[in-house]
Amino acid sequence: MKDFKTSRKNFIKASALVGLGTFAFGIEAKGNNKPTRENQASDILPINGKFELAPLPYPANALEPFIDTQTMEIHHGKHHQAYVNKLNDALVLMPSLQNKSLENLLVNISDLPENIRNTVRNHGGGHWNHTFFWKSLKVGTKMGPKFTDLASKSFGSIEQCKANFEKLSLGIFGSGWAWLIVQDGQLKMVTSANQDNPLMDAGKEPKRMPKVILGIDVWEHAYYLKHKNKRADYVSSFWNVVNWDEIETLL
Ligand SMILES: [Fe+2]
Repeated sequence: MKDFKTSRKNFIKASALVGLGTFAFGIEAKGNNKPTRENQASDILPINGKFELAPLPYPANALEPFIDTQTMEIHHGKHHQAYVNKLNDALVLMPSLQNKSLENLLVNISDLPENIRNTVRNHGGGHWNHTFFWKSLKVGTKMGPKFTDLASKSFGSIEQCKANFEKLSLGIFGSGWAWLIVQDGQLKMVTSANQDNPLMDAGKEPKRMPKVILGIDVWEHAYYLKHKNKRADYVSSFWNVVNWDEIETLL
């Protein structure tokens, strides 16, 4: 399940969308670059068989004081880089998959060869999740009308929506993510362990393909330098860095 948008140089728009549809759903590409997933702006594609780590879409200190500079530098430059490296190392073992988009691999994760499946799950998931995450963050944006309307309809109020998301994030045991998704016209919340995400195996039920609009990384590496063991402080302050403009674009 899942959905996604990005503008990075190695996310090549239309061809990847067609590629995902062909691989995931057995849809024959028609050559008209028509996206196979609603509101999918682009997918993450390898370049010459290798995925690459794009720069952060803003300076590492751009989210201060809510997310500190050192956390951003290590989180992006070390953790995210390691996911990319290990994903590439795994795909060397399966050259036939080296031209697939990352989304393509993840929606079909259970069908991948066993010798690389878990590595692609963990490190491919890590690459997708963090790429999405960086784009979800920005200081100073305002919640837009589409989200306000949808969240109010789905949860009764914005306040209730936020409270539910915080509670869900705090309830994740160990490392993982909480996600806001749109499915069947409703705003929903789901969690995933480790680096799993709502995309994984979504190709099994294309009609149930959700649109991911927000995710929060609750791995300790996302907050421990600043908040130590107080995940609640990180989660409650997270709303200050949500890129509401991006969410409005995704909806
Ligand atoms: Fe992370």
